[in-house]
Amino acid sequence: MFILGIESSCDETAAAVVEDGRRVLSDTVSSQVALHARYGGVVPEVASRQHLLQIIPVIEGALAEAEVTLNDIGAVAVTYGPGLAGALMVGVNAAKALAFARGLPLVGVHHLEGHTYAAWLEYDDPATDPGFPLIVLIASGAHTDLILMRGHGDYELLGRTRDDASGEAFDKAARLLGLGFPGGPVVQRTADGVTPSFQLPRAWLRGTLDFSFSGLKTALLHKAQDLGVYPAPEGGADPDVVAELAAAFQESVVDVISAKAAEAVRLHDAKGLVLGGGVSANGPLRQACRDRVDVPVLIPAPRLCTDNGSMIAAAGYYRHIRGTSHGLDLDVAPSLALA
Ligand code: KG4
Ligand code: ZN
Repeated sequence: MFILGIESSCDETAAAVVEDGRRVLSDTVSSQVALHARYGGVVPEVASRQHLLQIIPVIEGALAEAEVTLNDIGAVAVTYGPGLAGALMVGVNAAKALAFARGLPLVGVHHLEGHTYAAWLEYDDPATDPGFPLIVLIASGAHTDLILMRGHGDYELLGRTRDDASGEAFDKAARLLGLGFPGGPVVQRTADGVTPSFQLPRAWLRGTLDFSFSGLKTALLHKAQDLGVYPAPEGGADPDVVAELAAAFQESVVDVISAKAAEAVRLHDAKGLVLGGGVSANGPLRQACRDRVDVPVLIPAPRLCTDNGSMIAAAGYYRHIRGTSHGLDLDVAPSLALA
């Protein structure tokens, strides 16, 4: 069965056609990164209007790339939350229109369930599935969650960030260091191969699986001030010092996230660890998770870690075969909880 997946919760307008929840036939993404870069973050109003311009071409592109027409599609899956209300509305309304016009089942998908299912696309051979329970780590621009997944659609939230999300922390760190937006990729590149001569603090929040990154942000600010990187001096900051700061920051985030994910795996006797969300594109984080657990670690290719339509189609497929179907009164849910 072919599912059309649509995603518009933040700053990516995306659509994809996926077969049986695992085989990607096409994946089209129109990124607004360049548009928001000059503001140093996503501007909701600008995002909504850009989705409006891009949604039809992106859907048409996904169908064309998959060499299918709407006649071949079995259901339409769409992100209905969490995310920016105005942005979500564009995707949800497009999905409703298609479902109505073609008499297709409509499946609303939770954005984080989508990030979880990106791993199913990467490891698409059912024979190699590790089985349940799984620990799912979603680290993105808006979330840093540890989730116990007992089966398809069966989630328990074990821990979450108490302040900033890890992706948000990367974005703020990059801004402070004058590296640009989005922060994750540029911090990783800047830190590559650098061993810092100092450490930044880690918030362990012992006895919980929660995270906190706002103290680290403040510590980075103070260190950047001490080292003359912030505010940026005339002529620019010393690139070697900036690289050390970026490396120390990344080390701290990676250490805490990978240690807590490994702890969750142990506590719940999980058969595997799944990573998802933009931050799981981070090379050192991927390596640290693999080093710290002795069960299979399932991580999507970096391109499937950030927002895309394939992950929504995959999650939508597993919802659809379990009988989930939404009416044309489906509303957006900007603060939708997964569990
Ligand atoms: O999942 P995503 O595309 O959108 C949300 O749902 O939020 O995640 C975007 C976040 C941004 O904060 C970005 O800085 C971060 O993912 N990110 C990374 C990397 N690539 C993207 N963070 C660390 N390392 C990376 N390589
Ligand atoms: Zn996302």
